[in-house]
Amino acid sequence: MKIGVVGSGSMGTALGKALAAKGHSVFFGSRTPRSVAGFQTGTYEEAVRHGEIIILTTTWECTLNIVNGLKINDKIIIDCTNPETHDGRGLAVGHTTSGSEEIAKICSGARIVKAFCHVYAEMLTVPAFGTEKASVFYCGDDSDAKAVILKLIAEMGFDPVDAGPLKSARYIEPLAMLMVQLVREMKMGPDRIAMKLLKR
Ligand SMILES: NC(=O)c1ccc[n+]([C@@H]2O[C@H](COP(=O)([O-])OP(=O)(O)OC[C@H]3O[C@@H](n4cnc5c(N)ncnc54)[C@H](OP(=O)(O)O)[C@@H]3O)[C@@H](O)[C@H]2O)c1
Repeated sequence: MKIGVVGSGSMGTALGKALAAKGHSVFFGSRTPRSVAGFQTGTYEEAVRHGEIIILTTTWECTLNIVNGLKINDKIIIDCTNPETHDGRGLAVGHTTSGSEEIAKICSGARIVKAFCHVYAEMLTVPAFGTEKASVFYCGDDSDAKAVILKLIAEMGFDPVDAGPLKSARYIEPLAMLMVQLVREMKMGPDRIAMKLLKR
């Protein structure tokens, strides 16, 4: 599929490269376009034009302004952002809304799926723990868009877990903060831990 990355920092670059390795056409968009060896790069607007799917991986503080300016209304958006406070130690929104729901208010026609926000960039190419696959919780209100994202998550070697409507982002975003706590404060290592939903 054609994928446009809006925000080519650590997460955007790692996720885009992981999807390109599965055969997808990835375009990296940045405020100031820079080269990523072997890839098409340019502005955010060009990334949006390129993508059937838009990966949103921007710092929360600028995310709503960016999506407002881009007017992404007819595409699937994978929202990987976390609405972190400036110090990165808390959530700026929660309980009664989520980052994804705030983005949805702006991109009214877009089909938004929250995914990958609790997965460290360093984990994206190493999803297996022995015979177990790390889980990726995802949620959204459009079943067709969710089916597309489920396939991408599975292709990358993760265990996709459908968490229901976009409103469930209120519960998934705090999981990302738990991962941040475990990695930054408890020093567990971004490529050594991941979440797994056990089922029977
Ligand atoms: N790193 C991870 O492991 C990880 C995992 C899951 C989710 N996330 C989420 O992904 C998002 C990006 O995280 P990151 O770790 O990739 O951060 P990062 O490396 O610092 O990248 C920040 C991104 O935000 C964009 N940006 C746009 N306006 C900005 C501004 N005014 N100041 C700073 N950055 C601006 C940058 O885009 P340009 O390309 O234009 O520079 C860049 O892509 C965050 O919402 C984070 O919570 C990260």
